[in-house]
Amino acid sequence: MTIAITGATGQLGRITIDKLKQRLPADQIVALARSPEKAADLGVATRVFDYNRPETLAPALAGVDTLLLISGSEVGKRGPQHAAVVAAAKQAGIARIVYTSLLRADTTPISLGVEHSETERAILASGIPYTLLRNGWYIENYAAGVQGALAHGALIGAAGEGRIAAATRADYADAAVAVLLGTGHEGKTYELAGDTAFTLADLAAEISRQTGRDIPFRNLPAADYAAALTGAGVPAHFAELLAGWDIDTSNGALFDNGHALSKLIGHPTTSLADGVKALIG
Ligand SMILES: NC(=O)c1ccc[n+]([C@@H]2O[C@H](COP(=O)([O-])OP(=O)(O)OC[C@H]3O[C@@H](n4cnc5c(N)ncnc54)[C@H](OP(=O)(O)O)[C@@H]3O)[C@@H](O)[C@H]2O)c1
Repeated sequence: MTIAITGATGQLGRITIDKLKQRLPADQIVALARSPEKAADLGVATRVFDYNRPETLAPALAGVDTLLLISGSEVGKRGPQHAAVVAAAKQAGIARIVYTSLLRADTTPISLGVEHSETERAILASGIPYTLLRNGWYIENYAAGVQGALAHGALIGAAGEGRIAAATRADYADAAVAVLLGTGHEGKTYELAGDTAFTLADLAAEISRQTGRDIPFRNLPAADYAAALTGAGVPAHFAELLAGWDIDTSNGALFDNGHALSKLIGHPTTSLADGVKALIG
């Protein structure tokens, strides 16, 4: 069995390959990357795979049985990029495709859902046996917010009382490995999220507890939060997206209590305390 992983040079891809290597001989793993030299340290075969260069896609999938398509990072371009990957997978005769999507991609108000949903539809239309891993938020998404809180003495955001069932990239990588190596996952869609949901006030309280400082959460109107992010150097367009996702969060977009992730990986997801500990460093 040969498993190929896209986004191998990314954070989730790297962790997933490390974990796969503990369970599968390295010669059964292929790292797909637009810049394979960045994947040279992974200790597995690398092949050129650039979503923007469709001619690189099908040849790189020769001899591959299972493809893990880790969603790309070029927001706004991913619909056609992922469609090209799915078409190449079909052409190469891939036996199963596993895709990292977004929690409730088909109904989420989070704008990112559109491209994920489009990709899911392309996968279903291809007829290739599939598993959809609808990943919730990464705890690591709060890395910059936590650093900002440490620097300025307050955590800012616009998510109000919205509860966030986040988990670490390592937890989601465990889920990918479980599905890639396990049986009975074909045709399944998993809504994956952390076991324990927290609000941004809970996050601030945990930072306070671990640092011994009093770091409150300041909930801001979306426009003020976006302006604060822009002031801190975040590009205006991205700042507006982040503020918008916080409003979605305040409306429950990142809450989930199905525990599908911990069931799939066979252990509890990373706690808020451990997640914050890693972010504080
Ligand atoms: N659930 C969440 O909270 C959350 C948060 C952030 C992102 N995400 C999604 O989950 C994915 C994985 O997360 P991550 O933290 O590993 O992201 P990441 O570190 O940004 O990795 C993204 C990967 O996609 C690759 N990529 C981007 N454009 C490509 C292209 N045109 N052709 C081939 N490869 C391309 C990147 O390659 P290079 O190394 O060459 O750039 C990189 O390997 C992200 O890409 C994004 O879709 C989810």
